[in-house]
Amino acid sequence: MSILLKFSSFFLFFIITSSSLHSAEKQEKLLKQSWSFDGLFGKFDRASLQRGYQVYTEVCASCHSMNLLSYRNLSEVGGPSFSEEEVKAIASKVEVLDGPNDNGEMSVSYTHLTLPTKA
Ligand code: HEC
Repeated sequence: MSILLKFSSFFLFFIITSSSLHSAEKQEKLLKQSWSFDGLFGKFDRASLQRGYQVYTEVCASCHSMNLLSYRNLSEVGGPSFSEEEVKAIASKVEVLDGPNDNGEMSVSYTHLTLPTKA
């Protein structure tokens, strides 16, 4: 009789603890996010991608390089969707050391769209 009592109390303890664990799991709900690029027809928000590029150049670029990208990538699909004119304006502000010319002199010129981004 006492073996049966021990067994049934152990069984009861197991049921109670496992069901309380189970209900604790159910209470955990993941935070639901809503993104413009969700789903099959989702798309990136152009303005926020461009703000992201601005944050990158002003904050992140001091430590993280983007030298595997070229300026022309900024106007390509999947990027921040700048127009080609806007990319030219961005690239024209970046000075690069050019040369040497025939006289062996180096000069400063402005970057070309196919060059890697300078950051
Ligand atoms: C002061 C320098 C510095 C700045 C500024 C900086 N980072 Fe970092 N970042 C680091 C370092 C160093 C690591 C590597 C940390 C490590 O591996 O423990 C890192 C790692 C990362 C990672 C990888 C994290 C991971 O889990 O592997 C991401 C993503 C990242 N940074 C994004 C950004 C973004 C976005 C910005 C701008 C908002 C930024 N960082 C600005 C220094 C910086």
